[in-house]
Amino acid sequence: GHATVRLNTQRTVSEISPLIFGGFAEHMGRCIYEGIYDPASPLADERGFRSDVMAALKETNYRIMRYPGGNFVSGYRWTDGIGPREQRPRRRALAWRSIESNQFGPHEFMEFAQELGTEPMWAVNLGTGSIQDAADLVEYMNLPTGTLYSDLRAKNGHPDPYGVKYWCLGNEMDGPWQIGQMEAVEYADKAVQAAKLMRWMDPGIKTIACGSSATSMPGYPDWDRVVLERSYAHIDYFSMHHYAANPYPTISNTERLPIDTDSYLASSVHFEEHADTLAAAIRLAKAKNRSKRDVHLCWDEWNVWYRAKGGDGEWSETPHILEEQYNLEDALVVATWLNTFLRKADVVKIACIAQIVNVIAPIMTRTDAMYKQTIFYPLTLFSNHASGEALDVLVQAPTQDTNRHGPVPQLDVSASLEPDTGHGAVFLVNRSQTEALTVDLHWEDVAPRELAQAWQMSGADPFAANSFEQPDHVTARPIPVPTLDGAHVSISLPPLSFTTLTT
Ligand code: AHR
Repeated sequence: GHATVRLNTQRTVSEISPLIFGGFAEHMGRCIYEGIYDPASPLADERGFRSDVMAALKETNYRIMRYPGGNFVSGYRWTDGIGPREQRPRRRALAWRSIESNQFGPHEFMEFAQELGTEPMWAVNLGTGSIQDAADLVEYMNLPTGTLYSDLRAKNGHPDPYGVKYWCLGNEMDGPWQIGQMEAVEYADKAVQAAKLMRWMDPGIKTIACGSSATSMPGYPDWDRVVLERSYAHIDYFSMHHYAANPYPTISNTERLPIDTDSYLASSVHFEEHADTLAAAIRLAKAKNRSKRDVHLCWDEWNVWYRAKGGDGEWSETPHILEEQYNLEDALVVATWLNTFLRKADVVKIACIAQIVNVIAPIMTRTDAMYKQTIFYPLTLFSNHASGEALDVLVQAPTQDTNRHGPVPQLDVSASLEPDTGHGAVFLVNRSQTEALTVDLHWEDVAPRELAQAWQMSGADPFAANSFEQPDHVTARPIPVPTLDGAHVSISLPPLSFTTLTT
C-alpha cells in the first residue's frame, strides 16, 4: 500500500502542553513499595529509592506525577503518612485489600518528585475524607509557617512550603467500587465545596474534577455533563480515564469478546471519540455558565489493562496485583494513544499513564533488577521529542475494515514542531498486521534542514513481549535515517510498526 502525509508549519492544532507526558504513582501492589521505594534492595540509594528505577523514570521524562491514588486515595488519611516513620500506623487499605505501612508518605513523595524533576499532582480523599481534610492538606503542603499544619510540616523537616499546584478532587467517584461512591450531583457539590476551601487556603492552585471512570459506565456521559455544569466555575481541568483492551470488555465488564487484534489496533477511533465527547460537554457547560474561561481535559488514567485484572491483595503489604505484561501490539496502541493526544492538543492538556512501576506500568522490577516493557519505548520517544506545536497533519492512506470500529486508515500519524529551533518529530503507526506501507511525507511550506534521527519498533508477532530473561526482545531500535529529497521523504513501514522521525 501507499500513503501520503502532508505537513505545514502554518497548519497547527495547538501548542503541546508538556504535562501530557505524565505518570501516576498509586499506593497499591508494588508501585510504591518494591517499585519506587525499596530499602531492602541492593539497588536502593540512601533514601530507599531504587536508583535503577529512578534512572529509567528520568529517561521517560515525566513532567507531572499524580499521587497517591487512584482508588486508594478514597480511604487515605494523609496524616498517617507524616512524622517519624516508626510511629506511622499500619492500616488496612480497603480499596485493594492490602496493608498500608505508611513508610512512604507526603514528604517522601515530594522528595521523589523533586529528584525526578516532575510536577506533583495531588489527589484529595473525597470518599471518607471531608472538605476540611482536603483544605488541611493544602495548608500542610502549601502555606508558609505560622499555622497548625504548616508548622507541623516544618517540624517534620520541611519549613518551606512545597507549593503543590495541581489538585484532583477525588477519584472515580461514580464507581460502585469506590470508597464513598456518589451520585453526580452529590459529587459535584462536594467537589465545589472542597475546591472553594482549598482555594481559600491557596488561591494559586489548579483543580481537577472527576469525569466518568470509563466510557463503559452506564452514567457516561451524563455524569460528565452534570459535574461540569455544576462545578465549572471552580475547576480548571476535567478528568477522563480509559483502559484499552484486547479482548474488549463489554458494557457489563464481565463478558469478554474474543481476541481481535485488528480492532484493538484501531482503538484510537475510540480515544478520539472519548476526547471529542468530553470536549463537547465542556463547551456546553461553558456556555451554560456564561463563562469566559476554558476548562481542559486531564486524561489522568490511560493505558492498556485487561490481563492482570484481579485486585485482591489478600491483606498483604506488597501484593503482586495488576502486573500486566505488555507486548508489541500494546506498544502500538500506546503509540496511537500518544498520537491522539497530539491530534487533540487543543483540549487535552494533562495526561498520566497509569501507572509508572510494576502496576500496569512501563517498568517491571524485582529486588535486584528491572526491565523496560514494550510500552516504555513509545512513551519515552514521544515525551522526549514531541514539543512545540502539534501539526494538523493531512493523511491519505488505505483503509482496513475492523469489527469494532468499521473502516479505519491503515496509518495513524501525529507530528510536532518547535518553530524557533526547527526541532520536529513525526510519529507513524502502521496498524496492519500483514501489509507494509510506503509513506510519502511532504513538507508543504518550510522543509526541514535535515532528518536527524529515526527509530522503529516492529515485529511479526503482535504478542511478543520483554521479560527479565529477554529484556530487549521488543524495543525501539535506531534505523537508517531516510534521505530527504528537497521537501519530501519516502519511507517504507513494515506491518505492525511504530516509527519516529525527528528533524
Ligand atoms: O490504576 C488502577 C486503578 O484504576 C485506579 O486505582 C483507579 O482509579 C482505576 O479504577
